[in-house]
Amino acid sequence: MANATLVFFPFPLSFVAMESLISKIEEIIATAKLDTADSLEKFRLDLLSRNGLFTELFDQFKAVKPEEKKRFGAQINQLKGRAEAIFKEKKEELEGKNSNESHGSIDPLLPLQNLKAGSRHPLRLVLEEMQDIFIRAGFVVEDGPEMEDDWHNFSALNFPPNHPARDMQDTFFLDEDFALRTHTSSVQVRVMERGELPIRIIAPGRVYRNEAVSARANCFFHQVEGLYIDKGVSMADMKQMLLYFSKEFFGQDAKIRLRPSYFPFTEPSAEMDVSCFLCGGKGCNVCKQTGWLEIMGCGMVDPAVLESCGIDSEVYSGYAFGIGVERIAMLKYDVKDLRTFFDNDIRFLNQFRAIG
Ligand code: PHE
Repeated sequence: MANATLVFFPFPLSFVAMESLISKIEEIIATAKLDTADSLEKFRLDLLSRNGLFTELFDQFKAVKPEEKKRFGAQINQLKGRAEAIFKEKKEELEGKNSNESHGSIDPLLPLQNLKAGSRHPLRLVLEEMQDIFIRAGFVVEDGPEMEDDWHNFSALNFPPNHPARDMQDTFFLDEDFALRTHTSSVQVRVMERGELPIRIIAPGRVYRNEAVSARANCFFHQVEGLYIDKGVSMADMKQMLLYFSKEFFGQDAKIRLRPSYFPFTEPSAEMDVSCFLCGGKGCNVCKQTGWLEIMGCGMVDPAVLESCGIDSEVYSGYAFGIGVERIAMLKYDVKDLRTFFDNDIRFLNQFRAIG
């Protein structure tokens, strides 16, 4: 019976198995969605892998009669080529899509993480703001050395030989001839000596004084020096310029007042106060209930200084002023201890990141 079955069966077994395998494969190729990496991998495992249907198909193919081999061979190869091409195409499509997706998922507006941006030092911020105001008024920025000789720091500025400012207690002497400048007024002398008139300069910079360090005093600090020399310059010009500066810096409501003072190199000399920008002049803790804040020394350049620097004091006159940068920065940013400006404490400096 077994033989009879074989005899009456129209095709060899391998032939039947192959037909059913081929239609199975064709069905998979036709219906597979292949839109995810998982479905694509399943497609590969089912058809193309070592344990896949094509391996099975080739195994069956070995048993096919030689005269049938040609027809089946071509069909199987074509089918496998199709499956491989589809796999390759879908794979590339998915990979391309993924890389597009990851680009698409970047939000260019998100803030950068751990961005450690630096900040400008509060003294620099104040200094630049002052500088800008004077530049707008036609002043030019000048510079001078921090190591100065006696002439530029004292003698040319009319300091008498025994003036206490020359004393060891105030001045850092470097050797017999040089000291660290005690004020930026030394730049006045250097500019006047050049003999180019008229002069309208500001000179920002660091100055040094041999003082005990405390919350209110330091052995170095910063000044912005101003000097204007021309024919017919009067004290009224100075007052107007300083009022303009104060309004620009502290706000249009700012008022100023001049109190008589003394400097060897100016005559008359004055201290300039600005109305307290915190209480508007009513009196508060910052202005110690006076309504006024002292912010600079100023005055008309002493004719003796002009003559020392080779300028004819009969023809020319001028005014000068020296503003303390730390003092203004302390008032502006409510800094209670001068030393915090020089501690380089990152927590302090970071607070100025958004300014300027
Ligand atoms: N040089 C003076 C000081 O250091 C300030 C000043 C400058 C005063 C210019 C008058 C004119 O105190």
